[in-house]
Amino acid sequence: MTIVDPTTTTAWATLTGLKTAYTPDLRAAFAGDPERAARFTRTCADLYVDLSKNLVDDHILEALVALADEVGLGDRRDAMLSGERINVTENRSVLHTALRRPAGDSLVVDGTDVMPEVHEVLDKIYAFADKVRDGEWVGVTGKPIETVVNIGIGGSDLGPVMVYEALKPYVHERIQCRFISNIDPTDSGEKLSDLDPETTLFIVASKTFTTLETLTNARMARDWLWRRLIEQGAIEDTEEARKGAVAKHFVAVSTALDKVADFGIDPANAFGFWDWVGGRYSVDSAVGTVVCVAIGKENFADFLGGFHAVDEHFATAPWAQNVPALMGLLNVWYVNFFKAASHAVLPYAQYLHRFAAYLQQLTMESNGKGVRADGEPVTTETGEVFWGEPGTNGQHAFYQLIHQGTQLIPCDFIAMANTAYPTKDGDADVHELFLANFFAQTKALAFGKTAEEVRAEGVAEELVSAKVFEGNRPTTSIMAPALTPSVVGQLIALYEHITFTQGVVWGIDSFDQWGVELGKQLAMQIAPAISKDDAALEQQDGSTRGLIAYYRSQRS
Ligand code: F6P
Repeated sequence: MTIVDPTTTTAWATLTGLKTAYTPDLRAAFAGDPERAARFTRTCADLYVDLSKNLVDDHILEALVALADEVGLGDRRDAMLSGERINVTENRSVLHTALRRPAGDSLVVDGTDVMPEVHEVLDKIYAFADKVRDGEWVGVTGKPIETVVNIGIGGSDLGPVMVYEALKPYVHERIQCRFISNIDPTDSGEKLSDLDPETTLFIVASKTFTTLETLTNARMARDWLWRRLIEQGAIEDTEEARKGAVAKHFVAVSTALDKVADFGIDPANAFGFWDWVGGRYSVDSAVGTVVCVAIGKENFADFLGGFHAVDEHFATAPWAQNVPALMGLLNVWYVNFFKAASHAVLPYAQYLHRFAAYLQQLTMESNGKGVRADGEPVTTETGEVFWGEPGTNGQHAFYQLIHQGTQLIPCDFIAMANTAYPTKDGDADVHELFLANFFAQTKALAFGKTAEEVRAEGVAEELVSAKVFEGNRPTTSIMAPALTPSVVGQLIALYEHITFTQGVVWGIDSFDQWGVELGKQLAMQIAPAISKDDAALEQQDGSTRGLIAYYRSQRS
């Protein structure tokens, strides 16, 4: 794969010149061009995306599009979509987009059409979800399932949790889902303590089925199930009864079905996927089984349809109209030319309260890299920090810094035209009040408040500077009709392709994650030193020895 150093391109030189000459003035930009909002607004499936409050003009946008061409974004996108092994450090294809292609499509990779397998697994998940929802799948004492506990971490947790929370109004009325991810025993302790084992079903989700946290939690959950069923007199304390309980109360999701069997879960109760699905790109694979059980197969199919609609847009829209590409290029503009170190994502939709956490893995595990796909160092900044919280809560917490702090923080605002809970406060529609805050914040960030405007309000002169808002804080506003399964799929696919676009510009492999390995290795080396192995303790550095000594002195 030939990597084009973006900093050597003509477009980069043009952007450098444009940045030097550019004095952000969104007030003037809107005043001078009544069509600005319309000219800088795009649609992508059901998403209405207003880019007009970004620090761009036509020349900048043109140069960003030229940059996409010069770094070969089109070829890299097509290589991804067709199954080329663009994840070079793991020698894998990157085919999460295949997971949402309709039945009947064909995608031949290394001589095999992957689409029949994708739909075979999907049909198996749909049949399983139907059984659990209809009460046909029962626990060991014949009771229908009321709680599904997903055990997974990283991509095997963040996507399912986020989507489950986002689609709460679609969840089956008898079924609740919980998520255990952390190896901190308080996580499983809290999540399991009030559950009835007879009506609880565990889904162990792990792509590799080797992840320390997930396997430890799965074993603890299995022990909990056995102990509680025996205590309740639901099963005998025999090997066979325990096996029978696992068969009724455990299913698995993995690419390593042999390891699933080793754990004691019948491979017939396992849902597979493939090494060409990255963990953080996997909520639309079998990893989404918990979501499918919760919302049902029709809604899950709509969810996948939402992804696919955005995939089609990314695959076909010219760059100047291509929303994921434009948003990715704007992020490059801010990171590399404004030195923005972070990016806030602020959903005005309480149901999206885990969206930022989900995006953190998607964006930062993908693009937090200092080495390019060809092993050479990157030539410019990469991988900004993504963070956020739902509005309006964030307004009363950290928005101060976005409005008046010294760092430029580009923000994406996300809001829905309709709410699942239409409510009045007296005559006021509460959703409209909520949206008023959304509109107000992007307006305040863009246009600010001048000293003259502050003075005109009669503010004492010594307080004027504290009350001035500079404005010109860039935002993108994303709206959709409602937070449907399809729209949630669209939002995820949008950010997947934004992330991809940035990775291509920077020349990095956005699909590996070697940076998580060292800590895992060291944890296994340190573990023996913690409880009693003094020889292992001696081998640690001074700080680690001191911390472990403190732990030993305090443990009860
Ligand atoms: O350690 C990071 C990571 O490999 C993520 O990329 C992945 O989503 C997570 O761990 C969980 O991995 P698995 O699904 O194999 O348990």
